[in-house]
Parts: sequence; structure tokens; C-alpha cells
Amino acid sequence: MNFVIHSGSLDKKRSDCLIIGVYERQKLSPSAKEIDQASDGFLTKLLKREHFKAKEGDTLLLHQLPGCRADRVLVVGLGDALELSAKQYCKILGSAVKAVTATPSQKIVCALLETQVATYDERWRARQIALAFADGCYRFTALKSEPQEVPALAQVELHPQEGAQKAAIEQGAREGKAIAEGMKLAKDLANLPGNICTPSYLAEQALKLTERYPKLKVTVLEEADMSKLGMGAILAVSRGSRQPPKLIVLEYPGGKTKESPIALVGKGLTFDAGGISLKRAENMDEMKYDMCGGATVIGTLQAVAELGLPLNLVGVIPACENLPDGNAVKPGDVVKTMAGKTVEILNTDAEGRLILGDALTYTQRFAPKAVIDIATLTGACLIALGRHATGLLANDDELANALLKAGEISQDRAWRLPLWEEYQEQLKSNFADFANVGGREGGAITAAAFLSRFADKFSWAHLDIAGTAWTSGRDKGATGRPIPLLVQFLLDQVAG
Ligand code: BES
Ligand code: MN
Ligand code: ZN
Repeated sequence: MNFVIHSGSLDKKRSDCLIIGVYERQKLSPSAKEIDQASDGFLTKLLKREHFKAKEGDTLLLHQLPGCRADRVLVVGLGDALELSAKQYCKILGSAVKAVTATPSQKIVCALLETQVATYDERWRARQIALAFADGCYRFTALKSEPQEVPALAQVELHPQEGAQKAAIEQGAREGKAIAEGMKLAKDLANLPGNICTPSYLAEQALKLTERYPKLKVTVLEEADMSKLGMGAILAVSRGSRQPPKLIVLEYPGGKTKESPIALVGKGLTFDAGGISLKRAENMDEMKYDMCGGATVIGTLQAVAELGLPLNLVGVIPACENLPDGNAVKPGDVVKTMAGKTVEILNTDAEGRLILGDALTYTQRFAPKAVIDIATLTGACLIALGRHATGLLANDDELANALLKAGEISQDRAWRLPLWEEYQEQLKSNFADFANVGGREGGAITAAAFLSRFADKFSWAHLDIAGTAWTSGRDKGATGRPIPLLVQFLLDQVAG
């Protein structure tokens, strides 16, 4: 999708659809006023006739409005406050995108850039508009044999107010587009089923990124390499699978040579059947999404490379399958991790923390200034926070707060859970250094407590995306979360 910025009279612009905002009680936005005047008050008349309430996100589609060169005018309700909250603004953009994609519009003009949003500037607004339109047109059709109807939208023109900072708007649109493209890559990978998106496939897709972004360096460690490194935990999880495990390492050296990198570690379980502690059949297909952490890392690195951010970033993705088999790891088995610690695997379905433990240890070699892992780690996190917030646990308050703030700014929110010493007790094992499960109580926290034992050498945060990485039901599909949060966090690092 293409984003352009042009000023000029709105009524004179030719397009398939012009989007303007109206506040409650028929209060017109500056753009709506312009169109109302050009149409000799016809817009106001229609709003009255249709009893348009203009509650936030309401839409009204008008055709061939007199005095206006756009084929359609989409009126969007902005609610009753002249200054919107970030949440309201994103909701309004969401309904605008939904209404526009229901029409065959290819080229549109969006005049919602002028809408004031509390504490956010036009760069942020442009970013949200670009993200909403680009991401809102995403459809996953790769596996359908018949051509599918997909949104025709190809160009969005942003209409700046007089005196607006064109450069800031351009920058914002560029950021929104890059985030949406990173999300598209992540969603495509995640929506692909386990028989296509295997660990090898994930590795190939990561390698393919280097064609478009020569600055990126991608290395793939094979099973033998992991064996040499003593990654007993990853190897144990992968034992029951016929697919070889991969440890995918992406390096983006955008910053100063000596500057230590930020590392993103993503769980890349391309299918989690639970292993010998087999999951029940209901919704088990959704465990193809157990690589969403890894997809997030790939999508975020693409967005950062696309934007050319001046920072050093590393991505580490342990990728494998978790399946039952005669060769699979069994409950009670004790394995030695790369860190040298032994783990009693009491439940083979708690495999994410095992592969992440070794991946976190591996990440030490980059001497990172901060490590953020992203994982569909626990059903317990979904129970605790539902599908609205990503779970956040950390050993560093400053890092945690920066991530929470990035979640607010990007409207891709996280909520922090405690990681107190008390929870560590639940991981006690009679036979090894510790166990891989800590009982049902506080399941999202004890999983993070397990990870924290492999993260004691650096500042670390853990994002549990079990509730946010995909939606179930009729609209089953990957969400691309938490890429907006992570890219915002990285943008903040560059700015601050
Ligand atoms: N990938 C799952 C977590 C998961 C389950 C995410 C459902 C989203 C929806 C993870 O590997 C897992 O199976 N966790 C177990 C841990 C338990 C055995 C301690 C869980 O959450 O049940
Ligand atoms: Mn599992
Ligand atoms: Zn899993």
C-alpha cells in the first residue's frame, strides 16, 4: 500500500473515497466543513436526514455528493469530545477501514489526520492511520485454490492541515507502513499450518530476509551445533519430532559498532501437541500458532531493517516441534541445559520454557544491554489477562516500564505480573536442580520464574502472548501482536 501526503482543497480532489470526521450533535471537523460548504450545505442536510449520531466509529457512506469530486464520501463519527483518546482514535480508524474495504475503492483520501488526540502529535496520528489501513487490508488467502475477494485499496492520501509538519507526517506514515508489513510477514508465517511452516521453513524465511535487507545477517544452527553447545533442553523437546530443530539467529547492526545490542528471543514451536503429556484434541490446531513469538521476532527485525533504525538488534529463535513418539522425552526425564543446570521435565507440554532457557543462555554471547523474550507460553496467562493484554514479567523495572509505555503509545498493551522470589519455590524438584512446572497456581508467573533462572546475566523482560498472538473462533487468525509494541519500544530507544 502506498501513502502520499498532499494539501489542497479537499472538494477538488478526485478519489474513490474521501474520509471525513464529524463530531456528535452535527459538529463538523474542519474537513467536513470544507465539504459542506462545497456541497452548499448538502452534507449537513444528509447528516440530519439520516439521523447520523456520530458516536465514535459510526459510519455513513454517501455517493456523488454535489460539489465534491470524490465518488464516495465516508463520514466517520468522532464522538463528543474535540480531543480524542488514543484508544478512541484507533477505534475510529478501525471502523473507517472496515467501511472503506467494503467498497471497491482503490485510491482514497483520508482527512482524519487533523483530528486532535490527547498527548499525541501528527507523526503518531499518521503512523496509526498508515498502520490501520495497511493492516486492515490483510487477508490470508495463500492456501485457497480459488481467487479470493480482497480489498482493492492501493493508495491512501493523507490530507494535512494548514501549517502541518509534512516531514513528521511522512515519517509517521513510513513507520506505520513498516510496522504493518512486519505484521503481515509475522501473520503469514503464523497462519501457515504446521505441515508447511516447519522449523526449516521458518529458517528459510529468515534467510530470505537478507535478500531484501543486505544489512541483516542470518545464521542457522543445526541440531549438531546445538548438541555441541550442550543445549540439552531444546534437543529434549525436539526428540519426538521428525523435523530437525533450528536455532535461527538474526543480527541487525544498525548502530555503532561498540554499542551493545538489544536482543529479542522468540518461541518458535511450529507445532505443540504437548508431547507425551499430550494435549486434548479440542482446538489443538491452534497450536500451530505456538511459533508466534518467533514470527514476532522476524517481523520486528524486518520493520527495523526497513526503517533503518540506528541501533543494534539481535533476534534468536529456537524452532522445533513438540510431538509424542517412541523417541520423545518423557515425564520425569532429567536433562542438562546449556547453562549447566539440570531440569526435571515433569510435564512435556511445558516445552516453551525449556527451549527458551537454552536460547536465553545462547543470547549471552552478544553481551546484550537488554533481552526481551516473546512467547505463547502459558494458557494461564490467557486465563489471567484475557485476550486484551500481553503478560509482562521482568527482572528490571526500567525495562518493564519502557515496554508498558510502548504498549500504551502503540495501543498494543501489556500488563505486568509480579515475579517475586516466593514463586520460585513452586519449581522445586527432588531429582534435578529444578522442575519445568510449578503447579496450576500462578502458572504464567512460575513459567516466567523458570525463565528468570536463565536470564540472571542481563536485564530481561518476558512477554507472554498466549492471549494476544491470535484470535479464535469465526475470525481465527494471527494478530501480529506484539510487533507494534516492540517497534514502538525500539523507536523510543532511538529517540531517548
Ligand atoms: N503453547 C502452550 C501454551 C498455550 C496454550 C498458549 C493454549 C495458548 C493457548 C504451552 O507450551 C503449554 O502447553 N503450556 C502449558 C503449561 C503447563 C503444562 C504447565 C499450559 O499452559 O497448559
Ligand atoms: Mn506446550
Ligand atoms: Zn507451547
